[in-house]
Amino acid sequence: MSTATLPTPADLSITPRDRKFGRGSAPARLWHGGRVEATAIYNALSTTFPAGEAFFVESVRQFREGTPPKLAQEIKAFTTQEAIHSREHDAFNRRATDAGYDLSKLERQVEYRLGITRGRPPVVSLAATMALEHFTAILAHQLLANSRHLAGADKDAADLWRWHAVEEIEHKGVAYDTWLHATRHWPRGKRWKVKAKVMLLVTRNFVVDRTAGALELMRQDGVTGARAWAQLLWYLWIRPGMFRKIAGAWLKFFLPGFHPWHEDDRHLLVGYDASAQFDQSPKRKVRMAV
Ligand SMILES: [Fe+2]
Ligand SMILES: [Fe+2]
Repeated sequence: MSTATLPTPADLSITPRDRKFGRGSAPARLWHGGRVEATAIYNALSTTFPAGEAFFVESVRQFREGTPPKLAQEIKAFTTQEAIHSREHDAFNRRATDAGYDLSKLERQVEYRLGITRGRPPVVSLAATMALEHFTAILAHQLLANSRHLAGADKDAADLWRWHAVEEIEHKGVAYDTWLHATRHWPRGKRWKVKAKVMLLVTRNFVVDRTAGALELMRQDGVTGARAWAQLLWYLWIRPGMFRKIAGAWLKFFLPGFHPWHEDDRHLLVGYDASAQFDQSPKRKVRMAV
């Protein structure tokens, strides 16, 4: 696929919204409706973002050279968005630490996984980023489309997750288009094989690591053993069932000719931007974050 015929919408605008959440406030330790398993899985996910998103940025930027101007511009906006996400999740994670959680075991696991990928050729890091960005985008879609996921959560925390979801949808095609550009001379079969293999691997690691991370945080709240497993699996797979609900969108990744923008879900952003109260012109801070 040539970059001139990419399904990424021509009028797509990737807008970094430089917002800050929860500064100076101390939310309840169980900020997600007082529920141990709900708080644990979101905290476990947040623990991955500061280092994980820095890795995404570094992986994509290695391939920016020689990309068409529109894509180069999108990479820049993507970089800014992810840098601000890292900053806000770092602050969110500090609040979790202040509330008494020890995140060090989870952080070490993230570093371990990133270390393995960094030891491979740069195109492997790009492939992992492209797969994880699809993963993030379908989680984001589900989070915004179904209000059940954040029902009962602390307002500042819910705002942070919605804001992040909005921007993940907006830049969901950037790593993918960079991947298409970087592998434009590869035979189609090889491209598909690498892409599918990497997606299966990152999905396995994602599900295993986030489940283990959430169980560790639940343990810190005194919930262990079969009870912890049952509560967490019910939450993830049954109700509200985030993992089950993204399964169809996850499978689409394996279709030949897949592209994240074959589903244009920008309608989910319209309501958010209309209702969010934020300064739309934080140019100086945004530039500094890049
Ligand atoms: Fe992000
Ligand atoms: Fe992202």
